Amino acid sequence: MKQKYVIGGAVLLALVIFLGWRFVRPMNIFAVSEAFERPVSTAKIPAPLNTLRAEECAACHQAFYREWSTSMHSQAWTDPYFQVDWRFDRSQQICRNCHTPLDRQQPQRVLGFKDKEKWDPVLAPNPDFDPRLQRQGVTCAACHVRDGKILGSTGSRAAPHPVEKLTDPNQVCVRCHVVGGERWDTFFRFPPCGTVAEIRATAAYEPGGRKQGPGAQAVPAGRSGEIVASDIAGLGCVDCHMPLVERLVVAAGQAQRRRQHLWRGGHDPAMVKSALEMQLEEVPAPSPDERRVRLTLTNVGAAHYVPTGTPDRHLTVGLRLLDANGTIIKEEKALIRRTILWRPFIVDLWDTRLPRGQSRTYTVDYAIGAGPQPAAAEAVVRYYLVDEKRRRRIGYENADPVSYEVFRQRISLDVAG
Ligand code: HEC
Ligand code: HEC
Ligand code: HEC
Ligand code: HEC
Ligand code: HEC
Repeated sequence: MKQKYVIGGAVLLALVIFLGWRFVRPMNIFAVSEAFERPVSTAKIPAPLNTLRAEECAACHQAFYREWSTSMHSQAWTDPYFQVDWRFDRSQQICRNCHTPLDRQQPQRVLGFKDKEKWDPVLAPNPDFDPRLQRQGVTCAACHVRDGKILGSTGSRAAPHPVEKLTDPNQVCVRCHVVGGERWDTFFRFPPCGTVAEIRATAAYEPGGRKQGPGAQAVPAGRSGEIVASDIAGLGCVDCHMPLVERLVVAAGQAQRRRQHLWRGGHDPAMVKSALEMQLEEVPAPSPDERRVRLTLTNVGAAHYVPTGTPDRHLTVGLRLLDANGTIIKEEKALIRRTILWRPFIVDLWDTRLPRGQSRTYTVDYAIGAGPQPAAAEAVVRYYLVDEKRRRRIGYENADPVSYEVFRQRISLDVAG
């Protein structure tokens, strides 16, 4: 009898210690894959280039340089939010492989790994480290230079540098925009950075809700570390994020249809707005003594969920009834976000984001004749780059706003109904 208690107590104690540890252990929320476990090698630099800095490309490709300079890719390292988050997350080397992906953008070389999960690299000083190139984050060469050649859409013979034709431009994106999270102790419904999985999960839909053919399939990593699935073209990243425009490829040349280099996303109100359609209207209430106002939000512009990317991103919806002075009488609030339990285990709890082509409705009701009667209804939708709680936790003192209004619409509610 006594022995049973001792064993029971020991098991309980072990369980408590285990759970306690789960609450304080350093947490890695994604799995390191072959695609990005090491920086991109620039052992061979395509002649006549020397430094691979963006200014070097800009000497001939000005328009591309100007666009890229305004993009978040060019700020992937200097971005203050990234910098604070990176330090908070123990300044790990792995983060550099996507935010400063070229080997010469990193102060240390990666020689190998001490652990099976590849979070603990063997490092050595890097004599080729270029701090100026580091500041350029996802720079031109990060996407365009492989094995001493410049990857491009045509394999042009007119270039002074060696060129290789890209099979599919979307192949470039998946190196960094696919991050898996499969481990025994994680229960993700979508991988931590789920953009591609979200597109696949809703492949039967296209923006606007119409059904389409089979979408992109699994995205395995190739031996070289790059993703090699043949159906990546179906992802459509460049169609929406790098549309074709008539433009000069080199300043001295002729205009051609080539891709824009802006990559607008969560930092751009116009881009987020283009993802959504909003309808605010009065609809019949379930009870004859009541009236109902309904807001419908539809993802008409993105193939992935809205919002996508880091789980920090979310939207708030406010649906209000206002009196004649504009004072709020009643308000319904909702969150459009992916909610994840991080500790003791990583579990996707719920997800109220908008899959492609799909709508969500929000309603607010009021009783006719009882209490103050509203004169108008208003809907306000805001986008958040980061949660206020997390912003404070990591100590990010933002100079730029971390949220902005996407929509605001008002309709009047005449008393006659
Ligand atoms: C000395 C001028 C010069 C420099 C410097 C230069 N390029 Fe080019 N590049 C060209 C010319 C000329 C072409 C051919 C344009 C054409 O086909 O119309 C070209 C073509 C390209 C193409 C298209 C290839 C294709 O398949 O169509 C890409 C992509 C490209 N360059 C990227 C870069 C990048 C990235 C850098 C910097 C690392 C760079 N270039 C530096 C002159 C230059
Ligand atoms: C995030 C990845 C990425 C970055 C960063 C990037 N590019 Fe590109 N670039 C592409 C893709 C993808 C294409 C389209 C290739 C295609 O259509 O097959 C392209 C096309 C081009 C072209 C047109 C020729 C062609 O192949 O269609 C030029 C020139 C070019 N890039 C130059 C630059 C320069 C200069 C920079 C830096 C100032 C830069 N790129 C930064 C991904 C990138
Ligand atoms: C070398 C890694 C890398 C590659 C390749 C890459 N990206 Fe990115 N991308 C990033 C990083 C890192 C960020 C986040 C930068 C930040 O906000 O600090 C980002 C951000 C973005 C954003 C969001 C911008 C915003 O406003 O927040 C879009 C959209 C995007 N990338 C699209 C693309 C597309 C399309 C491609 C393929 C042509 C591509 N990326 C290729 C690393 C990459
Ligand atoms: C049908 C058009 C469409 C396609 C296809 C598409 N996107 Fe987007 N994407 C959008 C729109 C619109 C937004 C802005 C709304 C939002 O943030 O969800 C966006 C936002 C983003 C963001 C911003 C997230 C953030 O954190 O700021 C990233 C990153 C991104 N897309 C990457 C991709 C990648 C990678 C692919 C391909 C695998 C892709 N997108 C395919 C339309 C598209
Ligand atoms: C596999 C590539 C990859 C790795 C590894 C990676 N990131 Fe990123 N990161 C991205 C991409 C792509 C985006 C933009 C798309 C999105 O919103 O998910 C991004 C966005 C971010 C953002 C949001 C930036 C903004 O402007 O809002 C932060 C912060 C960030 N990463 C921090 C980190 C930290 C810290 C690590 C290391 C623990 C890390 N990242 C590792 C690819 C990566």
